[in-house]
Amino acid sequence: MIIALAGKGGVGKSTISSQLIRLLSRDGVVLAVDADPNSNLCDKLGMEPLGSVGELRNDIVDDPDMVPAGISKQEYVANHVRQIISEEGNVDLLVMGRPQGQGCYCFVNGVMRECLSNLIPAYGNVVIDNEAGMEHLSRKTLPKADVIVFVSDPTRTGIKTASRLSGIVDEVSIEAERRVLVINNAVGPAEGLIRYAEELGFEEVFVMPHDEFISRSAMESECLDVPADTVFGKALAGLVRSLTRK
Ligand SMILES: Nc1ncnc2c1ncn2[C@@H]1O[C@H](COP(=O)(O)OP(=O)(O)OP(=O)(O)O)[C@@H](O)[C@H]1O
Ligand SMILES: [Mg+2]
Repeated sequence: MIIALAGKGGVGKSTISSQLIRLLSRDGVVLAVDADPNSNLCDKLGMEPLGSVGELRNDIVDDPDMVPAGISKQEYVANHVRQIISEEGNVDLLVMGRPQGQGCYCFVNGVMRECLSNLIPAYGNVVIDNEAGMEHLSRKTLPKADVIVFVSDPTRTGIKTASRLSGIVDEVSIEAERRVLVINNAVGPAEGLIRYAEELGFEEVFVMPHDEFISRSAMESECLDVPADTVFGKALAGLVRSLTRK
């Protein structure tokens, strides 16, 4: 199952992604894709990136001759992408890295797309932490997600923004079987917000509570591992159950 998270800055995409990854990794290897150039998914997972797809892509565009003779660009990229995946326990981490620069990227993007569309479905579960613009989904560098999780803050304005983002998904024809809205950081009941989200067309809405453990942990460490018995941990288990139901 490929789960892509989207949402405007600071709503909790990386917090939720990292904890989804931790929970899903109990049942097998998860590919964590950090698709936000300014992201801190690695830090939240306590992992060190070994390189990025963006660096590799830019290097090839800058110097196409770096691909040795006798090996196809496809093979070269596939080998290198495998080398930049860092592994820890049941988590494999792939960092997409910086956005493309100037120059002609059509060819290399095609090669990258093919490489990732072979690599990604080999994993049982994939979690993609996107930046707000969802560049990799819209350029189709990353394959189609099964679920897009739109993350919003617990405000009507935030939910409206998430709904606009869902509209962009249609406009740039990003495909996904399911769309789920997560209202994160909620304090107290959120029935009114859930109703509002449904009015705006979200059919599946989840509420992730504000959790003091997360706030306290963020003051002490960049790495985040929320225990299962916290309010956030319990809500996360419910979210995972729903996301992974067939
Ligand atoms: N449920 C929660 N309870 C308490 N704090 C939270 C919760 N969710 C997120 N936060 C806090 O909100 C801040 C932003 O979260 P996070 O970095 O996950 O957002 P983001 O959407 O990934 O941001 P960016 O767009 O900058 O990548 C962090 O300081 C995080 O600790
Ligand atoms: Mg983030």
